[in-house]
Amino acid sequence: MLQSNVKPAEGKLGILVVGCGAVSTTFMTGVLMARKGLAKPVGSMTQYDKIRVGKGSDKKYLSYSEIVPLADLKDIVFGTWDVYPQNAYQAAMYAEVLKEKDINPVREELEKIVPMKAAFDKNYAKRLDGDNVKDCATRWDMVEALRQDIREFKAANHCARIVVIWSASTEIYVPYNEQYHGSLAQLEAAMKANDREHVAPSMCYAYAALMEGAPFIMGAPNTTVDIPAMWELAEKTKLPICGKDFKTGQTLVKSGFAPIFSTRCLGVNGWFSTNILGNRDGLVLDEPANFHTKEVSKLSTLETILKAEEQPDLYGDIYHKVRINYYPPRNDNKESWDNIDIFGWMEYPMQIKINFLCRDSILAAPLLLDLCLLSDLAARAGKFGIQRFLSFFLKSPMHDFTKGEQAVNNLYQQYTMLKNAIREMGGYEADEEID
Ligand SMILES: NC(=O)c1ccc[n+]([C@@H]2O[C@H](COP(=O)([O-])OP(=O)(O)OC[C@H]3O[C@@H](n4cnc5c(N)ncnc54)[C@H](O)[C@@H]3O)[C@@H](O)[C@H]2O)c1
Repeated sequence: MLQSNVKPAEGKLGILVVGCGAVSTTFMTGVLMARKGLAKPVGSMTQYDKIRVGKGSDKKYLSYSEIVPLADLKDIVFGTWDVYPQNAYQAAMYAEVLKEKDINPVREELEKIVPMKAAFDKNYAKRLDGDNVKDCATRWDMVEALRQDIREFKAANHCARIVVIWSASTEIYVPYNEQYHGSLAQLEAAMKANDREHVAPSMCYAYAALMEGAPFIMGAPNTTVDIPAMWELAEKTKLPICGKDFKTGQTLVKSGFAPIFSTRCLGVNGWFSTNILGNRDGLVLDEPANFHTKEVSKLSTLETILKAEEQPDLYGDIYHKVRINYYPPRNDNKESWDNIDIFGWMEYPMQIKINFLCRDSILAAPLLLDLCLLSDLAARAGKFGIQRFLSFFLKSPMHDFTKGEQAVNNLYQQYTMLKNAIREMGGYEADEEID
């Protein structure tokens, strides 16, 4: 075993969640309930998974906190920003994801989590009409105001460290534009010039977080930290960043299912994915410009698993379509259908249908916990820039596309990356032995 150089997880960890909606309140409520022993954090890798360390007769299976120093749930303090002023208890009740009996035992704690004013621009989410919004003349002012929020929260709650995670609505699509996003100096100039087209509010949160010494996690498909300017800032501030888009229902299934075909050399010529969803996320995504951001993220999954250039006979002509339909009666209980057209020996066609009746926020909540704890760990381990080992949790994992890097979307390869990063941070050797 090698020496582990990870700093200990001493003191309180402030988790600042951008957005106090369905996912965020399910996450916060679950953590508060779990640490009282009133709920189980099912689905969380940091709380349940065990990784093999060592080989042969030396091998043993340890939980993450036995390998690396993770923050304890008891040391977490929550804060949030939202366009709506409702506290986390009211927001959790509004979201209707959890039953009242699962919220009430931590009601008082949730009531104390009151959203700070949001850095918001209605052009980025037209369907939202809340007024708990900062009055900022420019994007640069937004950054300054957010930095002050972070500093004040940290001091008021005596936090040793802060992590900022975006779990707010999906913004309209902001494509990467080298002229504004290519370098930190260009991004800062655009912020100061109040360039509302190229600087999304989410970029102000990310910039503020990194400047205040906090890792930043992008849970929606927004471009935000997926630009060289932010990679430069993360390098400069020596902080971890990761994104994009929590990998929860349909894409989790897709990234776990698609490897069946590539592993057995079966062909695929069509994959149609559709969803019905009725929560506020669905409402925002009903706006075409916001849906486009999600579409780009969801479509990227298959390309790197079913590789057209390596297997043109099998994957050279896949028709891949993703749809999300806003359907209020289902609220957070999303239903997804996947129809997969595959072919086998002598190109004879077959079909597979997957119908997943899931709960969006129930699947997302453990990802927020894991991403926050592991980003905090990465910072203490001295890791900075894009954290590719966290791809496991993300639909559209960040990678340096300017250097021709490819995303890793295959769930099992992502899991190997995750395990090896934990092993290495714990002072063990990375390996690919069969567990
Ligand atoms: N639940 C899932 O399975 C899943 C998976 C992947 C990604 N996501 C993403 O997670 C995000 C949250 O989902 P949700 O279901 O909780 O949505 P939600 O609509 O319930 O909550 C989002 C909240 O963000 C707030 N908000 C919007 N812009 C803001 C800003 N600039 N600053 C502060 N607050 C802002 C909204 O007012 C809203 O309360 C969405 O972007 C969604 O696409 C969810």
